[in-house]
Amino acid sequence: MQHVLSANQFTKEDCERLFTIATRIKTSPWAYSHELTGRIMGSLFFEPSLRTRCSFEVAMNRLGGKVFSEGNATYSTSTAKGESFKDTLKTISQYVDVVVVRHPQEEIVAESANMSDVPVINGGDGMNEHPTQALLDLYTIKDAFENTEGLTVLFTGDLLCSRTIRSLLKLLKPYGTKNILARAMPPDLAYFENWSWIEEGQIEELLPTVDVVYMTRHQRERSLAREESRFVMTAKLAEKMKPTSVIMHPLPRTEELLEEVDNNHRAIYFQQAKNGMWVRMALLYSLLKERDWQ
Ligand code: NCD
Repeated sequence: MQHVLSANQFTKEDCERLFTIATRIKTSPWAYSHELTGRIMGSLFFEPSLRTRCSFEVAMNRLGGKVFSEGNATYSTSTAKGESFKDTLKTISQYVDVVVVRHPQEEIVAESANMSDVPVINGGDGMNEHPTQALLDLYTIKDAFENTEGLTVLFTGDLLCSRTIRSLLKLLKPYGTKNILARAMPPDLAYFENWSWIEEGQIEELLPTVDVVYMTRHQRERSLAREESRFVMTAKLAEKMKPTSVIMHPLPRTEELLEEVDNNHRAIYFQQAKNGMWVRMALLYSLLKERDWQ
């Protein structure tokens, strides 16, 4: 059984293989429009989602497959009657060929995956991991730069609760980037590997030297009382960055990234969201058609 549970499970070779397929699909999507005819993807979301759920569902549709979707699973499934997550997953896996799950509880997707009779894809588990976001983030970085070796990636926002940062750092390990975390206060950085850090107040002076600014919002729904990041990306600050640099954000944004930045050529977060669809198409195609990516 090939589950997608953590960014750790992807080698550089796995990523490259997947990205080659993603680019092929992106170049001629119609050539893949019948590849998954007759297959059904279950979409089981216990937390709100726009990009992850919609891009997975559209990805499946674009491959000719069908989708069964519970976007509000906490209330719309028998979870509301007290059914366990394991039983829910086991049951859904009787009906579909692959299932994407998002859940507010850390590790629950990985711990329950063995209950499933079909591949399980982790669409985000609490503050722990978001492996498919990391894949599309890395794909987007590779799309923007010929060579990742030596690139400086500056991470801002909610370092402690961001599952997207945690997963991306894991995936970046073999890619030779220099990762800098800008911290608003001393958080528990033990979660992370392969990084160095600066104080948030130093971001502005560092901006002209970095290649990627990867922003995240404050995760208010995760109740960890602490000081919030105060860094706000403005059009003026974006202009201080190198002309070749990019600004990324997994979205949704809140007050940390102003709309006035959108017109700057460095702002690639909506392209990043679109890449999510191509990468997820490649992943579904690999899982259900090739089954040889791992
Ligand atoms: C992220 C998530 O859900 O972890 N969004 C996404 O999947 N594109 C980031 C967030 O919610 O802040």
